[in-house]
Amino acid sequence: MNAKEIIDFFDLKAHPEGGFYKETYRSKEIILSENLSHHFNGNRNYCTSIYFLLTSDKCSAFHKINQDEIWHFYTGTTLKLHQISPEGEYSTILIGNNFLKGEIPQYTVPAHYYFAAEILAKDSFAFVGCTVSPGFDFKDFVLPSSAELSKKFPKLTQIIAQLTHH
Ligand code: GUN
Repeated sequence: MNAKEIIDFFDLKAHPEGGFYKETYRSKEIILSENLSHHFNGNRNYCTSIYFLLTSDKCSAFHKINQDEIWHFYTGTTLKLHQISPEGEYSTILIGNNFLKGEIPQYTVPAHYYFAAEILAKDSFAFVGCTVSPGFDFKDFVLPSSAELSKKFPKLTQIIAQLTHH
């Protein structure tokens, strides 16, 4: 299947960071705010999971959340994850099926890191899963402009400009 067929088949919707997604799991039980770190403002479900599809023509822009995010590769071509630690250390990870070339099928982005993703091949896509615990809430989602993020990490201005939408 191509990207459009997968988007239609699973009824994926545009994500504000770029790419297409659908939530596939949200645990029924909740963790009370008082049992979460101070970063969380309110109760959260134990865990959530989404399908996420990213195409070559538009990256997933740098954003951050309050919890670790586990990425699982399903199908498509190599996805390059870019991450910036809170201290400003930049690194990349290749997520895919070419294990002998250093790609891995599962990776966990640490909480509070800014991260972005792109598909390296032209006219291609990757279809992955993203799981977080505590569960996802857009209250925890920070999607800065390139100007805001460059101000925080001036040495990374070039890569930030490449991987933000405005
Ligand atoms: N639910 C809605 N958006 C997201 C996201 O970016 N990541 C995860 N894990 N769940 C989501």
